Amino acid sequence: MIPRTTVDISDKELEAVKRVLKSCQFVKGKEAQLLEEEFASLQGVKFAATVNSGTSALHLSLLALGVHQDDEVILAPNTFAATVNAVIIAGGIPIFSDINPETFSLDSESVKEKITDKTKVILPVHLYGLISNMDSISEIANNHDIAILEDACQSHGAEYQGRRAGSFGDLAAFSFFPTKNATVAGDGGIVVSNNEQLIEKIKALRDHGRIKNQHVVAGLNNRLSEILAAIGRSHITKLEQFNEHRRKIAKVYNDNLKDLPGVVLPFELEGSKHVYHLYTIKTDRRDELKNYLKDKGIGSKVMYPERLNDLDYVKKVTKYQDMPVNDKVSKQILSLPISGTLELSLIEKVCSEIINFFT
Ligand SMILES: Cc1ncc(COP(=O)(O)O)c(C=O)c1O
Repeated sequence: MIPRTTVDISDKELEAVKRVLKSCQFVKGKEAQLLEEEFASLQGVKFAATVNSGTSALHLSLLALGVHQDDEVILAPNTFAATVNAVIIAGGIPIFSDINPETFSLDSESVKEKITDKTKVILPVHLYGLISNMDSISEIANNHDIAILEDACQSHGAEYQGRRAGSFGDLAAFSFFPTKNATVAGDGGIVVSNNEQLIEKIKALRDHGRIKNQHVVAGLNNRLSEILAAIGRSHITKLEQFNEHRRKIAKVYNDNLKDLPGVVLPFELEGSKHVYHLYTIKTDRRDELKNYLKDKGIGSKVMYPERLNDLDYVKKVTKYQDMPVNDKVSKQILSLPISGTLELSLIEKVCSEIINFFT
């Protein structure tokens, strides 16, 4: 079986766990603080706050941005449920925009149509490791004085015109879930920003609402444990190497599949860097191809199979929104095996099978 993804855990991470166990400092210690400094520096931003998942990173960010009852948040329908769940749990109303068929992220024209005087946040998801069109999204947000929260859970290290994911919005949320480009080998997340005040709010919200031992706001317990932070510190030192490997895998796919009729390869803007959290092709024969690959022992996946605005609990809090581009694309997408460590020879095999299928 060729798996869709693999995770690299080496002696370095085992050493990191030992170091924390011996210190007996399991929460609120120096590992989480150092991870904040090191990750912020990697993404080219000034500040960061670790939390216990990407979902908490989104949720606390929305709270810090002041989202409450009836505030509208614009997002795309083709992301993991956590994105819309965070909006609903913060008390906001999710407003869905159609997507751009190349970037799979928010379509600027559709976003403009959705803006009302209740719009509080635009929430672009840098899906599959490709940064959204941040030029036009930033312009819209600036023109209307709306905040931007980047869902960067799939885009550690990704670049757009020389700037990294997380450096465009007021806040940006990353996940360290095990399949992500960088992990803590468990659930974890981090919020980054150049705005120190917003990051201080997140730090209070994640710690029972405390600032310097004073309870100043109704907070939660969403801290990242020291063991996981130490593993994360070790893992992010390998992020560039893993991302380069993912890009090598993408090149093998691109070189082999580029002339195959019926297959559309992932889009990459010149001067920007896709980090291929997922390598996602489009084909009208998606379901047939998926079954064919399964019979050959190759794992592939549809990410994401459902429109978030079709979920019953989401329908209850928002109005129906027509999204023709998303509806077409959602029937074509298929994510092929990729990770920071999968052998290139296995990818060649996947390519041969895909070529066999189409010829
Ligand atoms: C786009 C996106 N947003 C949010 C999340 C939530 O992150 P987590 O699983 O760490 O809560 C994920 C990952 O699972 C994701 O891929």
